Amino acid sequence: MSEENLPVPAPVPHKRRKRYSGKNPRRFEDKYKEHGQDAATIAKVIESGKTPAGTHRPIMVAEILQILAPKPGELAVDCTLGYGGHAQEILARILPGGKLLGLDQDPVELPKTEARLRELGFGPDVFTAHRSNFAGLPQILAAQNISGADLILADLGVSSMQIDDPSRGFSVKLDGPLDMRMNPQRSQPASALLQKTRPAALAEILVDFADEPNAATLAPALAGKQFATTLELAAAIRAAQPRLGKGESDQAVRRVFQALRIAVNDEFSALDMFLRNLPSCLKPGGRVTILTFHSGEDRRVKRALASGYRDGFFAEIAGEVLRPTPEELRANPRSASAKLRWARRAE
Ligand SMILES: C[S@@+](CC[C@H](N)C(=O)[O-])C[C@H]1O[C@@H](n2cnc3c(N)ncnc32)[C@H](O)[C@@H]1O
Repeated sequence: MSEENLPVPAPVPHKRRKRYSGKNPRRFEDKYKEHGQDAATIAKVIESGKTPAGTHRPIMVAEILQILAPKPGELAVDCTLGYGGHAQEILARILPGGKLLGLDQDPVELPKTEARLRELGFGPDVFTAHRSNFAGLPQILAAQNISGADLILADLGVSSMQIDDPSRGFSVKLDGPLDMRMNPQRSQPASALLQKTRPAALAEILVDFADEPNAATLAPALAGKQFATTLELAAAIRAAQPRLGKGESDQAVRRVFQALRIAVNDEFSALDMFLRNLPSCLKPGGRVTILTFHSGEDRRVKRALASGYRDGFFAEIAGEVLRPTPEELRANPRSASAKLRWARRAE
């Protein structure tokens, strides 16, 4: 074929950079449009200590890997798969011959994470995704004919994908429906729970789930009321305590949102059940690490591990709680409240 006869390539249409008012996209939808298109932008976002939209940065990875010490051929369970950051690191260390079961109750994010891990080359022979509450771990293991895991990880709470997506209703900053369900196909959104709850019961939720010091003032102002959106609720929390400074009222908003999220998702019941089942889900010599993000979670984990140690189920447990290094805190402020505890099952 002569050079003149070569097919002329179609002109590549010039792609205009999206214009935003200001330097960066502010709206979540715009951030999402950028996500995945420009590696340099994503690297810059991470460098600035932020989490790129639609992703999650795994916390205390080095510490977790050191304690779990995953080895080729081992069976691992990640009870809170999220974005798969921890899972990916564990998978790389249990191959060849190992397998990881990833559980998550979020039907929105789980398929995306499963697809991402498949793209990284982790086929169904080495990685399986299970849409399940980790309270049901014994049933998941039994269904796979697994008597116990070599290592188990639970990284509690919500993922950055969930917090940053206003349509999920977790964000204290972005307006969205007041939902907060990790599994939107179950239970009731936060708006319905608030509307149904009486002030005394709400005060208990605020104290038990977030140590809210002003529960007696806040509960009557919020219980039984109709709040359609996250920002409507945030405004009502601020209005109920007009004398608080900006920093204090921001903290109050965070505490109320945390308490409601725990109530909506029945998080403590799931955690208690998981902790009860834990020794029987581990093989003799198996290791577990649990990352918590507030005192209510950490207290439960600390107590359960101590009682398992006293009863002889665990041969060793964390003496002191582990915290992120100053470097990690600087690089990822979302790690600020993380606490890590661990245990090793007796042989
Ligand atoms: C902090 S994120 C985990 C992030 C993950 N370690 C990573 O590296 O991407 C917590 C995840 O646990 C899930 N989750 C929280 N409670 C759960 C429960 N009781 N059962 C199953 N999944 C749960 C949430 O949906 C969320 O995706």
